[in-house]
Amino acid sequence: MTQRSLVLLKPDAVRRGLVGEIVGRIERKADWRITALELRTLDRETLEQHYAEHVGKVFYEPLVTFMSSGPVVALVVEGERVIEGIRVLAGPTDPITAAPGSIRGDLGTITRENLIHASDSEESANRELKIFFPNLA
Ligand code: TYD
Ligand code: MG
Repeated sequence: MTQRSLVLLKPDAVRRGLVGEIVGRIERKADWRITALELRTLDRETLEQHYAEHVGKVFYEPLVTFMSSGPVVALVVEGERVIEGIRVLAGPTDPITAAPGSIRGDLGTITRENLIHASDSEESANRELKIFFPNLA
């Protein structure tokens, strides 16, 4: 089942010089392909669309402030069961409970600065890919 996932390496990952480390983990998976990769700084409007499900929650405002605090790396990754696969590589939202071996488990500590976003379903992936890469075929 070939899928596409929208991945963001968050501002903490860029600031800490972990882009190569994280992209490397994704790139090393057999037969997954990075088909778009771009450094960009996100504005509030883009983040409101991207995090629509979280608007109004207590963590929303600090999340937007953090996510717009510096550039992110936006990627499109294609391959076999890539949506579930990158969520597994990333680990759960709270890095303290994320298993060692996962990106968040190995590299993160606090929930807000958890290094990576990855689409959580095909529906989310389609929605998010349109926000970040509207010209994708
Ligand atoms: P969520 O979609 O629940 O997590 P995930 O990124 O694993 O899909 O939340 C989006 C982001 O919001 C999450 O990566 C970090 C931030 N966040 C907080 O800062 N505090 C929280 O309590 C939660 C649930 C999320
Ligand atoms: Mg999510």
